[in-house]
Amino acid sequence: MPKTTRRRYAVVGLSNRAIGQYVLPMIGHPKLPEYGNYSQHGEVVGICDIDLARVEAFNQAMGTAIPCFLTSDLGRMIEQVRPEALIVAGPDGTHVDGIVAGLNHGIDVISEKPMVIDAAQARRVLDAHSQSKGHVYVTFNYRYTQTHMMIKRLIMEGRVGRVTNVEMTWNLDTYHGSSYFYRWNRDRAMSGGLSITKSCHHFDLVNWWVNDHPQQVFAYGALNYYGPNSPHKPQGKLSAAEVRERSPYRLRWAAPWLDRPKDDHLIAYEKVFNLPYEKQYPQDPPFDIFDEAIDIEDTYSAVVRYRGGASLSYSANFSAPWEGYTLGINGTHGRIEARHYTEPSRCPFPADNHETLNYYPIFGQRQVLEVLRVDGGHGGADPMLKYDLFVERLPQSKELGLLADARQGAEAVMVGEAVWRSIKENRPIEIEPLG
Ligand SMILES: NC(=O)c1ccc[n+]([C@@H]2O[C@H](COP(=O)([O-])OP(=O)(O)OC[C@H]3O[C@@H](n4cnc5c(N)ncnc54)[C@H](O)[C@@H]3O)[C@@H](O)[C@H]2O)c1
Repeated sequence: MPKTTRRRYAVVGLSNRAIGQYVLPMIGHPKLPEYGNYSQHGEVVGICDIDLARVEAFNQAMGTAIPCFLTSDLGRMIEQVRPEALIVAGPDGTHVDGIVAGLNHGIDVISEKPMVIDAAQARRVLDAHSQSKGHVYVTFNYRYTQTHMMIKRLIMEGRVGRVTNVEMTWNLDTYHGSSYFYRWNRDRAMSGGLSITKSCHHFDLVNWWVNDHPQQVFAYGALNYYGPNSPHKPQGKLSAAEVRERSPYRLRWAAPWLDRPKDDHLIAYEKVFNLPYEKQYPQDPPFDIFDEAIDIEDTYSAVVRYRGGASLSYSANFSAPWEGYTLGINGTHGRIEARHYTEPSRCPFPADNHETLNYYPIFGQRQVLEVLRVDGGHGGADPMLKYDLFVERLPQSKELGLLADARQGAEAVMVGEAVWRSIKENRPIEIEPLG
């Protein structure tokens, strides 16, 4: 039977992710059943953020009175509201302070991905972890999709033998890919760049599937689609507002006559529940995808070598005509292939979300494996992750090792950091063992 004691959580960063994935489910608001109801299992006893007006407006909208604190009072929050665990869910570059504070107070920390944005921050977390009785859980929800669990199971069963190399091409479309350039993610100091804030999901998947430690990375990449030199930036003597309005990205997805498809990343920018966002996004002028301030890449080709000899060839593009991935995993005894359309409704061709895996024994006939369809955010991953975190460990979690720890959180970030550093320095980057 699931345990029913209510665990006390405090949230660091009232992000839209935190609201949708953690705070609303814990409140279990009767008017918002789509977020789930975990109120029997946990309660939010404090929230800290740089934007008190945002937290207060949230309390008002929900009819709650969760104590709110400025981030600078994080320590005071922990001492005053005595949480049993922190949920760290602000912008990526801010996670380290929340995680270390939680560990220094001896409590567990649930961190949104990426755990941190570089190896130096990862070491701060691991040092604090080694001195603490608290644990760190990194919410790599991509591990929880049916397809990704099935791949892990096939590999664990030895169906491909020893993994030799992985081919992964993961593209984001002009809708979702561009959304990062309207938000804090476009700033390396806040996100580490897309090779961390987004690709950490992909690197974590491969680290987890291959069950090995990344050792060396070589990469090429650039900012090709966004920023001031974008080939899509409207030209001529135009005001900033005209540039925005005439942007082909806006015209494709946000023209006033279009009904927008639902995408939490863009809604995030546009305010959920009309909460203020002013501290993070001073509204005048609004962030635009052609801004000078953008200092990250939107295109990557990378090769990763693992300590046991496997390798990954990885390609990512954040302005592609359709979104999803193609994947091949080769082993000494077989191959797995997958193709995934993240949002079939946005594909410029007929696509559906019926998913299969192809499994080829190395000398045998192809086997087509049907993937179970499930409801819920990120292909059904988000509800499973919540249950795993807030109620009890799922059998699949124990079987496959779904819940990532601090070291796994660190290794995904270290690959992402090595990718952008390799691009900048035009050389292979070694990933130091974590010891
Ligand atoms: N796992 C997933 O699928 C998924 C999806 C979306 C976002 N995320 C992650 O969730 C986190 C939040 O992303 P988002 O886009 O929802 O954020 P957001 O932009 O909606 O909100 C960020 C919040 O953090 C606050 N903030 C800014 N600096 C802070 C600081 N120093 N301390 C505390 N709070 C601070 C802001 O005021 C704002 O309330 C990120 O780590 C992101 O990578 C994960």
